[in-house]
Amino acid sequence: MTQATFQASGAATKVRRRVQDYTADLGEGMVVLDCVTRFRQRSPHLGLPLDCKAGKCGSCSAEINGKPRLMCMTRMDGHRHVKPGETIILEPMHTFPLIGDLVTDVSWNYRVNKMIPAFQPRKPDARTAPGA
Ligand code: FES
Repeated sequence: MTQATFQASGAATKVRRRVQDYTADLGEGMVVLDCVTRFRQRSPHLGLPLDCKAGKCGSCSAEINGKPRLMCMTRMDGHRHVKPGETIILEPMHTFPLIGDLVTDVSWNYRVNKMIPAFQPRKPDARTAPGA
C-alpha cells in the first residue's frame, strides 16, 4: 500500500507554530482531507474544519505545499500539487485570521458572497434568439 507523509502546521501559540509529522495509507481516489481526517482520529487535538466535503463552502482551505487549495478537492493520486513520495506540507491559509491549527476564519467569504447579486440570464437578443 502506498503511503504519504505530511507535516501539519498547528497553532500552539500566536508566536510559535507546532509542526507534527503524520503518515497515511493511501487508497484510490483519496483527497488530502481524507488523510487529515484520519490524522484527527489519531490526534483529536488537531484543529480541523469539516463541512461540505464538496468544494462548495471553502472551510477546508489550506496551504498545501505553499499553494492555497481546498483539501476536499485536492486528490492524492496524480494531482500536480501533490507529487508521489514527497512530504506534503499543510499550513493554515495565511490570508485569513487563524482560529487554530488548520482552521481559519473564512467568514469574510460569506459576507462578500451576500453582496454579489444573483446571476440573471439576459434576455435573448437578435444574435442569441432561437432561430437567429
Ligand atoms: S469542505 Fe467545503 S470546500 Fe472543502
